[in-house]
Amino acid sequence: MDDAVIAKAKEYFGSIVEEQLERVEQMKKSQEWIDYSQVKPIIIGIIGGDGIGPFIAAEARSILEFLLKEEVENGKVVLRDIEGLTIENRAAQNKSIPDDVLEEIKKCHVTLKGPTTTPRKGDPWPNIESCNVSMRRHLDLFANVRPVKVPKDGIDWMFFRENTEGAYIMGSKGINVTDDLAIDFKVITSQGAERIIRLAFEYAKKNNIDKVTIVTKANVVKTSDGKFLDIGYKIAEEYPEIETDDWYIDIMTAKLVDPKRRTQFKVLVLPNLYGDILTDEAAEFQGGVGTAGSANIGKRYAMFEAIHGSAPRMVKEGRAKYADPASMIRAAAMLVSHIGYPARAKNLEMALDICGNYEKKFVTTGRDTGATGVDYAHYIMETMQDLNLKERWEGYIKI
Ligand code: IPM
Ligand code: MG
Repeated sequence: MDDAVIAKAKEYFGSIVEEQLERVEQMKKSQEWIDYSQVKPIIIGIIGGDGIGPFIAAEARSILEFLLKEEVENGKVVLRDIEGLTIENRAAQNKSIPDDVLEEIKKCHVTLKGPTTTPRKGDPWPNIESCNVSMRRHLDLFANVRPVKVPKDGIDWMFFRENTEGAYIMGSKGINVTDDLAIDFKVITSQGAERIIRLAFEYAKKNNIDKVTIVTKANVVKTSDGKFLDIGYKIAEEYPEIETDDWYIDIMTAKLVDPKRRTQFKVLVLPNLYGDILTDEAAEFQGGVGTAGSANIGKRYAMFEAIHGSAPRMVKEGRAKYADPASMIRAAAMLVSHIGYPARAKNLEMALDICGNYEKKFVTTGRDTGATGVDYAHYIMETMQDLNLKERWEGYIKI
């Protein structure tokens, strides 16, 4: 055995431990949640991203302008476009987020982000880290909040996916110790687990939801998932009015398909990778990842995004203007609610349901057989202006 190889690996491991202990210290300095009612102006950054991103971002932007018209006019809210988060620029600078772009993002309070290309081995791009993952880490966006609703099937789930640690935190920092031995690292900290689990319980409490489900694989991944689960049950003791149970991720993926079981789940909290997988599966019941929005929330910053890809082929074939902006607009609704306007967000969600799931006067097909994103956004805005919006929505969801 080569002592030098082992020494190098040990040294590397040592540096990881130091880095993570430092992160724990940072997390211990508990930061206060930002209070948007006290912030003027609230700066909303719009990031187009790659492929169809700039097209659907433009539609989401006009919806934000429509919903926040008064606040934009009186200076409470500023909408700001952020350029440069494109795969070409990121590849040229060999950075998951170029420094100047990150600086611009940090000047905003919240951002609405279009899809960004995640390079992988064999692509024409350098294999840089996903910019989502990088942004979540840089801005400490520890909670990935993903709602999935299918009213007619009794599905109403809210996922709280841990967003800054787990299998992701060292996703680009594994080591090939030798040609034959590859090691990745998975990290769970008490502070990291506690803050996401607490957020899930607080959400349940505030919304009178009586059940929280913790999902891990603690029977096999005993140390880190074991910690997540233990902390979950410890926090549960503070919420005696809420029933807490836990499932392993494998059987959980099965139970989501079981019509009798799945309606019993309400709020689910889980480590990063399991959350990544389970939320894609969950979104499929609602019509696929293209229909879902996703909120990445931290105490200081928040980023809202569509969770589908950038569809470069649509752009190449000249079909970008037919891309469906619904997921990005759903993300915009979450943003509007997050900065303090939940009633307007609810109106937007109702309009999205009516237009996308029930009435369907304009339907995007991704090509010229369907509506354009511009038509669709107008349809949404027109629907929101209906004074009987709520009744109209209720009429549909009863079906
Ligand atoms: C998501 C995506 C990302 C993730 C990718 C693009 C890195 O799948 O937001 O769920 O794995 O987190
Ligand atoms: Mg995913």
